[in-house]
Amino acid sequence: VLSVDLAHPGAAISPQMYGIFFEDINFAADGGLYPELVKNRSFEFSEPLTGWKEIMPTTAKGMIASHGELAILTEQPLNASNPHYLEARVHEAGGYGFYNTGFRGMGIHGGEDYRFSAYVRAKGPTAIRAEVTAGDKTIASGKLEGFSGEWKKYETVIHASETADHAQLNLYVDGLGSVDLDMVSLFPVDTWKGRPNGLRKDLVQLLADMHPGFVRFPGGCIVEGRQLLTRYRWKTTIGDVAQRKTIINRWNDEFDFRPAPDYFQSFGLGFYEYFQLAEDIGARPLPILNCGMACQYNTNETAKMSELDEYVQDALDLIDFANGPVTSPWGKLRAQMGHPESFHLEMLGVGNEQWGGRYVDRYKVFAAALKAKHPEIKLVVAAGPSPAGDPFDEMWAHWRELHPDIVDEHYYMAPDWFLTNTTRYDKYDRNGPKVFAGEYAAQTASTTSSDNRNNWKGAIAEAAFMTGLERNGDVVTMASYAPLMANVHAWQWTPDAIWFDNLRSYGTPNYYVQSVYANNVGTRVVPITPLVDGDGLYTSATLDERTHELIVKAINHSATARAGTIKLSGAKASGAAKVVTLAAADLSAENSFDQPTNVAPVVSTMEVGAGDISVEMKPWSLTVWRIPV
Ligand code: AHR
Repeated sequence: VLSVDLAHPGAAISPQMYGIFFEDINFAADGGLYPELVKNRSFEFSEPLTGWKEIMPTTAKGMIASHGELAILTEQPLNASNPHYLEARVHEAGGYGFYNTGFRGMGIHGGEDYRFSAYVRAKGPTAIRAEVTAGDKTIASGKLEGFSGEWKKYETVIHASETADHAQLNLYVDGLGSVDLDMVSLFPVDTWKGRPNGLRKDLVQLLADMHPGFVRFPGGCIVEGRQLLTRYRWKTTIGDVAQRKTIINRWNDEFDFRPAPDYFQSFGLGFYEYFQLAEDIGARPLPILNCGMACQYNTNETAKMSELDEYVQDALDLIDFANGPVTSPWGKLRAQMGHPESFHLEMLGVGNEQWGGRYVDRYKVFAAALKAKHPEIKLVVAAGPSPAGDPFDEMWAHWRELHPDIVDEHYYMAPDWFLTNTTRYDKYDRNGPKVFAGEYAAQTASTTSSDNRNNWKGAIAEAAFMTGLERNGDVVTMASYAPLMANVHAWQWTPDAIWFDNLRSYGTPNYYVQSVYANNVGTRVVPITPLVDGDGLYTSATLDERTHELIVKAINHSATARAGTIKLSGAKASGAAKVVTLAAADLSAENSFDQPTNVAPVVSTMEVGAGDISVEMKPWSLTVWRIPV
């Protein structure tokens, strides 16, 4: 019997309770959500020809014969943020070309249009012909022409006749002489909301379907960088994409250098696009900024206290960029980019996974400046890696004293840890800072191992754990699974909520757990017993005061189906209840490109009346009942 006491509703649940945490890890941005198909379009990788190769024609005698040469130059570049460009010199007639293979191949959808563009400056050559090929077949083509001796952007839309998941872009120069190229781009026209420089539609749709309460961005460790020089600096990620400054991605793990680092951030997906994404999917933005500390797992490089002004100013300016009037310098830039309205920034993270006294010293400087000028902005701090989850560790001692608004905890732990920690937040101080469970995921093996699966074993443990987040809605105000996305051809970390390749994507069972919770959140905690029965049952109940529904969630962590009753006191049920079931036959169940919804919510309805409500729970299941009251 699940007894629900509607006569004594408890704490309010934050409207942004379940959200998403996006980080450019696993090629989630360039090579993923940001659908540019050309890798190293601006020739700014540390080996500037990375991704590019000459096409070597063979002569009738089988000899390889190049009719030209490629070089990377820096004289009179496109702009100061983008100092390198490609020069192609053609010294012999007969065709000279080069190609780009994209981010582990280019995904092309037959029947769709792609915008081919480049900045070009030429002395001699009259055209650049583009051919998108899949094996020996040309599946799209077009050309740019009419060049002068000055940099200028040229573009044309080309149509793909066929679908290919590993296409490449071949470029051929017509005419003798030299031609300079920069920002060479092949970009789908059909993006999310049809925006030029927009996002990959199928991936945004998966995020939108979750109805997340917030989007935390841009990371993660990439906020910190391996060194301060390669930290995330939001000001270099906005404005004209040709002016954004490409830098190495911190997730370019040493063992992944092939043979040179090839994971960089173009920042085509920059802070403006993150704010826009959050707005599009009805989520609140939560940017995290560098606090003057590089990744403590790497160099631990730390800015001097006397050098913090620049970092603090970045934070103050970001608030203006997001919320400031169009008459302010940063608000004006936002308006010029197409968004005169405020992005309604309410929260800001200071540092990612930082810890120790140096972090506290730096936080104090940020807090003093930010609270003086923007008391309306809630500040989020980190509780260090704290994976064992001791709520009374060193960082919490500091935060209890300094009382920031929200403390971000991270835990990547075994499924059993999640099952035994459903009561973790019951003992937290009700008057202390609020908690953001900012990164968590059940680990069935090490995070760099392909044995670490997105299976139902991990996902159902997370579902059980989340009953404890929800029940403690007065302490826990936000929660997000991590990492969010991974490219099957180029990942650094498992498990991940969403997997994709160049053409397809699917949500994992873990994604669907997040989605079921976010879509059934409620506005107020309601007492329910039992919370945990020692026999695999975990429960939570909330009330949705907007729709007048009682929302009961129950996890049956056992191989046996259960039948029971929901007994209400303090209110009467009547009408059609919605039942959402997420279940799998066994704990090893996974989703895949071929079976994307093997483990996915199934919705049904049942009539309910004033008496006890008979319910059933499948083996290994999460069930949600939305009961009109
Ligand atoms: O989510 C992957 C990484 O885990 C994040 O970048 C970091 O914050 C944590 O260590």
